Amino acid sequence: MLELSGIKIEQLVKPVGITSPFRVSWVLESDERDVKQNSYQIRVRRKGAENWSYDSGIVESSSSVYNKVEMTLESLVCYEVHVRAMAKDMETPWYYTEFTSGLQDIREWKGDFITAEPENSARDAEKSYGTLVRRDFCVDGEVKEAYLISTALGLYHIWINGQLASPDEMAPGWTSYHKRLQYQTYEVTDLLEEGQNAIGVMLGAGWYKGMMGYKHCRNLYGDRTAFAGQLLIRYQDGREEVIMTNENWMGSRSAVLFSEIYDGESYDARLEQAGWNCVGFPMRMSSVHSVDTDSAFSGNVVDNPWISGDATEVPAEFRLWKPVEVIEGPIAALVPQRGVSVRQQERLQPKRIFRTPEGDLIIDFGQNMTGWCEFTVRGAKAGDVCELQFFEILDASGNMYTENLRGAMETLRYTCRGSVEETYRPWFSFQGFQYARVNSWAGMNAEEVLREKEAYANKSGSADRLFSLVSASELTGVVVHSDMPVTGAFACSNPLLNQLWHNILWGLKGNSLDIPTDCPQRDERIGWTGDIVAFGRTASYLMDTQEFYGKWLADVAADQNEDGSVPHVVPDILSGHMEGDWLLETGFQGGATGWGDVAIVLPWIQYLTYGDLDAVRRQIPSMKKWIAYLESYADGCVYVHGPQFGDWLALDAKPGSYHGATSDEFTGGAYFCHVTRLLANMLHYIGEEEESAVYMKKYRALKEDFCRRFLREDGRLTEDTQTAYVLALTFHLTWQRTRPALARRLVELVRESDGHLTTGFLGTPRIARALSDYGYWKEAYDLLLKEDFPSWLYQVKSGATTVWEHWDGMRPDGSLWSADMNSFNHYAYGSIGEWMFRTIAGIEAQEETPGYEHFRIEPRIGGGLKEACGEYESVRGKIRVRWEVLEDGQGPTKCVKIGLEFRIPANTAAEVVLWDADQVLEADGLTFEWREDGLHAEAGSGSYRVVYQM
Ligand code: BGC
Repeated sequence: MLELSGIKIEQLVKPVGITSPFRVSWVLESDERDVKQNSYQIRVRRKGAENWSYDSGIVESSSSVYNKVEMTLESLVCYEVHVRAMAKDMETPWYYTEFTSGLQDIREWKGDFITAEPENSARDAEKSYGTLVRRDFCVDGEVKEAYLISTALGLYHIWINGQLASPDEMAPGWTSYHKRLQYQTYEVTDLLEEGQNAIGVMLGAGWYKGMMGYKHCRNLYGDRTAFAGQLLIRYQDGREEVIMTNENWMGSRSAVLFSEIYDGESYDARLEQAGWNCVGFPMRMSSVHSVDTDSAFSGNVVDNPWISGDATEVPAEFRLWKPVEVIEGPIAALVPQRGVSVRQQERLQPKRIFRTPEGDLIIDFGQNMTGWCEFTVRGAKAGDVCELQFFEILDASGNMYTENLRGAMETLRYTCRGSVEETYRPWFSFQGFQYARVNSWAGMNAEEVLREKEAYANKSGSADRLFSLVSASELTGVVVHSDMPVTGAFACSNPLLNQLWHNILWGLKGNSLDIPTDCPQRDERIGWTGDIVAFGRTASYLMDTQEFYGKWLADVAADQNEDGSVPHVVPDILSGHMEGDWLLETGFQGGATGWGDVAIVLPWIQYLTYGDLDAVRRQIPSMKKWIAYLESYADGCVYVHGPQFGDWLALDAKPGSYHGATSDEFTGGAYFCHVTRLLANMLHYIGEEEESAVYMKKYRALKEDFCRRFLREDGRLTEDTQTAYVLALTFHLTWQRTRPALARRLVELVRESDGHLTTGFLGTPRIARALSDYGYWKEAYDLLLKEDFPSWLYQVKSGATTVWEHWDGMRPDGSLWSADMNSFNHYAYGSIGEWMFRTIAGIEAQEETPGYEHFRIEPRIGGGLKEACGEYESVRGKIRVRWEVLEDGQGPTKCVKIGLEFRIPANTAAEVVLWDADQVLEADGLTFEWREDGLHAEAGSGSYRVVYQM
């Protein structure tokens, strides 16, 4: 049997917004062994057309990914793609998928940027209220198809005839808006009706103009939100019509009184204008442009977004409409959305609702997560307020703990309209949380809630009205992140390791909301580059990060400074906004070792994982700029310039410091060597041999300098820290013969720390690898399996459901690390996931054959595990490895017998290494040969089961 599955266009399933040329990939499936594709054929036509617009003919090639189709595409057209492939003497049937093209030329963009926010109103610029823009239009005939392309300055949701036109959240996403602003493409044929129609858009501040960064700056990209878009209608009779944004649209205020990324949202359902996004909505016209919130409500929206809620009258001004204003927008920066969009992914039910000792009523969702709580209340009175305040952990006494959120209020406030049933979810905000405190609820105001809380704490009241009200409502934890499929699964006989894997995965879910973030809860949630350097490889096993990171890397290149330095965060919202910051105030906003290096490290990870050479080529200019920048400030290999974070949060830091003991000179030198080599490698793999040779030469000189400075005659490093040895070993910075001694010293250092690690952001991701690569696999397992502080399993045993920022975020005595930097959902230390996958499950990419075209299966049996299983959905199909200890050496034969099953996808092959084996008992048709580290065999595609003795 020979089949195709998972046909993708530009690595996405049935994508929209595709431009020419595009690439087609598929997975070849077969139940036979040793299947290699020998040819394929691709045909493309307009959906439903008779004639093919493109036919590749039979192409003799084994390539099943990134096959380029060079054809002219028309804008906003749905195309069918048909594929078949041949292998051995078999042929697949024709398989079919489709995609929708985006604008092929940005000059086709006709929509103006329109705003309903007043101009030059400093006061409004400081506010994050929501606006509406709408218009009615006529559909004059039978519609064949209709496409909407749209974007916003700020965030938007769009309705046609009262129905949401897209399931996307937080669109248009976060990019370096002035340089790259994504537009979305939606097919909306089914939403249109012949005759009158209405389109309505709700806008919010978001990353664009809301408060961002721990210096709490506003209006980072602009001070007025705006929407731009156009709706293309194709009629059955061949006519085409475009409805676009222009001065004929009308604007008003929405029921969103306040909405911010960090602080949450305040929504007054009494201000909803029923039917505003439907046909025939009677707009009441205003002669003034803005509505004055302050006169309508007591309190100031900026200083106190959680306005007191005692407004009984709905201000009439909210319901007035006025023509929108057309403003200048970054049309030249428009790019079709390439990556995956943000979507609601999972719905969690509360685990329990309970009172803390202090008397707060808490909803526990049982999982530290990113998203929001959606709730439904019934029978509320108009003006009743439901307010939830979100947070991550309970303190040692079991009470609500919010200090680690710093300036983020993480609060949702919903004022009821007073109908039989009302449901709310925030529109322009998200929270990082496991718990929510109920500050007030429909049927009980804040004072009553407080009184009940006090009565509970003083044990003077027994009735629990709030509990009954909240329990009678529907509460759902909605998990929100970029729509990346999970690609990696890991399970083994140790439940603690399985929980660790779960926590690592949830760290990724929680920190992938359109951009890779450091944390999802406190007043940061920004694209700290170093966190991705640490975690990127693990992330790319866990989920399909190809498009997600591809999009973000485009912003890395876009925001890279003139001199080549890479900003500390991308999109760069820190430059120019760090006055008064103890570390970053120097005015120099980029170039940190292990952070800026993301410009090279992440494309390398992507190269290994997906083998997409075009993606590598796109980043080469940015990579070269980074190296040139390092060169301009380095003395030999030593690069230290501007603020450095070093081995951030390492436990060998001086008291009171976040900066680990390994010097900046050492880490700067190590990374400079490492990334120069990676660039040389990538240039080689894309066929730029001459340039590769240039960088290889630079690398050799750097490495020589590194050894001269940091390698001592007695075989030790000048810096006797775990991280120094880890970097030198895993970056291969010293000559081969010197490495065993370095590895021995690393083992000693771990022992000296009572078997624990002392590493931070730079050392932790690689410490287990540094040990296992040099024969200390047992020590690596021991490190992973440590259960006391500091260790991965210490967190697990403390009840963590995500990975913490600090090894000692919560100490054994219940005390907490200082609130100024103590996130409980920070994925950097989850980087051990990579080792678990590569070493325990033994699924290892190879750089000469990236994207798992040829890979290694090399599990290391150990750690007292009885069995382990890893599955990875590669771009070429599912890889699976499972091993089990059949005899553990305790029986009469005294031998250790292992059963190893594996699946190698069709059109790939693998080298199977039975590490430390001395005899194969069942070879399942494979021929093993001896090498120094065990028995090796070359295996073609198929499923196998091998039994061997160690
Ligand atoms: C972030 C980190 C980041 C670091 C840089 C922190 O505030 O949360 O994860 O990499 O700053 O030093």
